[in-house]
Amino acid sequence: NYYAILMAGGIGSRFWPVSTAALPKQFHDILGTGETLIQKTFSRLNKIIPAENIYILTNEEYGDLVMKQLPTVQSEQVILEPAMRNTAPCILYASLKIKKKNPDAMLVVAPSDHWIEQEDSFVNDIKLCFETCENEDVLMTLGIKPTFPNTGYGYIEHKKNASEVVKRVERFCEKPDYKTAKKFIKQGNFLWNAGIFVWNVQSVLNAFEKYQAPMLNQFLTGFDDINTEKEKDFIAKAYPEAENISIDYAIMEPSKNIYVLPASFDWNDLGTWGALYNELPKDDNKNAIVNAKTLLENSKGNIIHTSKNKTVVIGDLKNYIIIDEKDKLLIYPKKKEQEIKNLLKRLNTKF
Ligand code: GDD
Ligand code: MG
Repeated sequence: NYYAILMAGGIGSRFWPVSTAALPKQFHDILGTGETLIQKTFSRLNKIIPAENIYILTNEEYGDLVMKQLPTVQSEQVILEPAMRNTAPCILYASLKIKKKNPDAMLVVAPSDHWIEQEDSFVNDIKLCFETCENEDVLMTLGIKPTFPNTGYGYIEHKKNASEVVKRVERFCEKPDYKTAKKFIKQGNFLWNAGIFVWNVQSVLNAFEKYQAPMLNQFLTGFDDINTEKEKDFIAKAYPEAENISIDYAIMEPSKNIYVLPASFDWNDLGTWGALYNELPKDDNKNAIVNAKTLLENSKGNIIHTSKNKTVVIGDLKNYIIIDEKDKLLIYPKKKEQEIKNLLKRLNTKF
């Protein structure tokens, strides 16, 4: 009964200019391990979910890329979205497809761009979540102990001193501003949302019924067509009409039946250059250098990522992101990296 929804339709715009709309970061070997992020995610999920039950959700633009990078996957497992509508419509669509196949399905919903090395711990955590929500109408998420007021994550509040392994969630707050994030960290009873969710298929549909009824009803009008040859036409029309909203805002924030399991593995969402910086080896001045040959004077805490063998000379620069990628160059302060996503909207070409 175990199924996975692997979400691989984002553009990873905070990872520009390596991640672009034409080749988003999940299709890159960002860590230099020989495997792309989506390949790593697939094999991690496959340690607990049968390969044929792993559904990959992506924009129709990336369908061929997915098939190329995951050659053992059948085309029915690659679910194509005709428009970018963020993660709520994507999860709803996949859930309806899976429910039709197996109404008792247990789902893990996973992003395609995370760094998780301790795969055995990951598998154990997911198993424990499956056990917790198999017969309960609850939504489960994995929590990460926060280390700084990152404004790019969801924050999960649980009772102070909650000693249970699986904790009841008091409040879910998606991407708070810096001040709020700082307050949360100080309070101590908050975890970051890892963005990995576990539930039975009926529970997530119940949540959509409660909090996203228009979206659910829109998709239900074509429920008979789903998994038939009429599906494509229905989806081509219905999907672009769905609200552009993430699961975090659409379902997790309003829901009252959430439980969190603090993850037992080290985690990094590789969402930004700064996040990658944390996982890379560094020189004596805490510079992380990928590919470049560097001469650095009085420069500390930078991440420098270029094409192979590029010679880079830098003086008096601290805590910057320097990314040289073909015809694009990014020079930006690390502490303002969350701005990159919005800034790119001002470039009038498709980035
Ligand atoms: N199929 C599909 N379609 N996938 C999508 C879409 C879409 O329209 N939009 C995003 N994704 C995929 C991304 O590729 C990524 O793997 C995952 O969904 C999450 O999207 P992000 O855009 O990376 O979300 P986020 O990082 O801002 O926030 C989420 O993850 C954080 C942890 O990494 C939230 O769940 C936060 O609460 C969480 O802390
Ligand atoms: Mg992310």
